[in-house]
Amino acid sequence: MKALILAGGRGTRLRPLTHTSAKQLFPVANKPVLFYGIEAIRDAGITEIGVVIGDTGAEVRAALGDGTRFGVRITYLPQDAPLGLAHCVLIARDFLGDDDFVMYLGDNFLVGGIGELVGSFRAGDYTAQILLTPVDDPRSYGVAVLGRSGEIVGLEEKPEAPTSDLAIVGVYMFSPAIHEAVRAIAPSARGELEITDAIQWLLDAGHRVHSHLVTGYWKDTGQVQDMLECNRIVLESTTPRIDGTVDDRTEITGPVVIEAGAVVEDCVLRGPLIIGADSKIVRSYIGPFTSIGDSCTLEDAEIEYSIMFGCSTIRGVSRIEASLIGKDVEVTQAPRTPNTHQLVIGDQCTVRLRP
Ligand code: TTP
Repeated sequence: MKALILAGGRGTRLRPLTHTSAKQLFPVANKPVLFYGIEAIRDAGITEIGVVIGDTGAEVRAALGDGTRFGVRITYLPQDAPLGLAHCVLIARDFLGDDDFVMYLGDNFLVGGIGELVGSFRAGDYTAQILLTPVDDPRSYGVAVLGRSGEIVGLEEKPEAPTSDLAIVGVYMFSPAIHEAVRAIAPSARGELEITDAIQWLLDAGHRVHSHLVTGYWKDTGQVQDMLECNRIVLESTTPRIDGTVDDRTEITGPVVIEAGAVVEDCVLRGPLIIGADSKIVRSYIGPFTSIGDSCTLEDAEIEYSIMFGCSTIRGVSRIEASLIGKDVEVTQAPRTPNTHQLVIGDQCTVRLRP
């Protein structure tokens, strides 16, 4: 069995961060979200992984290399344009050969691994297996409609009037019959080859498609709130570890990870939280569910329930909450007079200021 990880795409919902970086490499508890997926695949016993890459391919290649550091073998599959999830299967045809495979969306986050799911697909006699989970607003997902005995009777992509609340999770299992399906379908109204259409094609052709209800935690990290929630979930199971330096004026409550080279002086830290290597935190408050990346500086600052990617500075500003702060960013106080906000912000940013 092989795996196909999708790490191209547009990432429009996470702009402006996706103008300069691959969203699949955005950090959750200071580790790229894509790494969690690769580890889950490896832990399920799959070591041959194809990674679909797009405009941000160079960054993804630099982060993953040939896969040795994960104990897997990675083949890169460049996609000229993000033409849809089923298009990724189409271009991966030679790599996949006649093997069964797991298709894993590189920005998806699934707690609990995929070992059991891979096992049940291998043991069963299905052409495809999909995972489902109930969601509040099914209109932004691919949605499955189940029959009386729980069998899948149909699929809809981002339906305006959903007939079920069961969203399709971004981890699929396919036998080689999917290749005929992706060749047979036509692009949707939004111009993409939809994987839901390909699975629908399998159903219409009489193939057996199995569904599993996900019992653990799943998130598509495609939006800011989702990133923050994932970060919270991972930090919740943090094992405390202090490899950096903390002075005796600092008060620590709850689980805290402080990486080597980080220096914390005269602060209040309320975990769970993580502070990356070589960061300097002085006279600051860091509240629960916060990840501070490597080489950040916080001075006279307050922040909680947020992610700082790395190499950024916050000085003299309180309190920042529910925020994503990219790399090489500076957030500081303006001069006392005039009493104004001074902004140098790129395209497609979101800034919310208190009056
Ligand atoms: P999506 O999140 O559905 O699409 P997107 O990345 O273009 O984001 P947005 O909707 O915010 O513009 O994609 C799911 C995953 O699949 C993600 O990791 C990107 C990847 N992908 C590809 O590799 N190729 C593609 O053609 C598409 C559509 C997605």
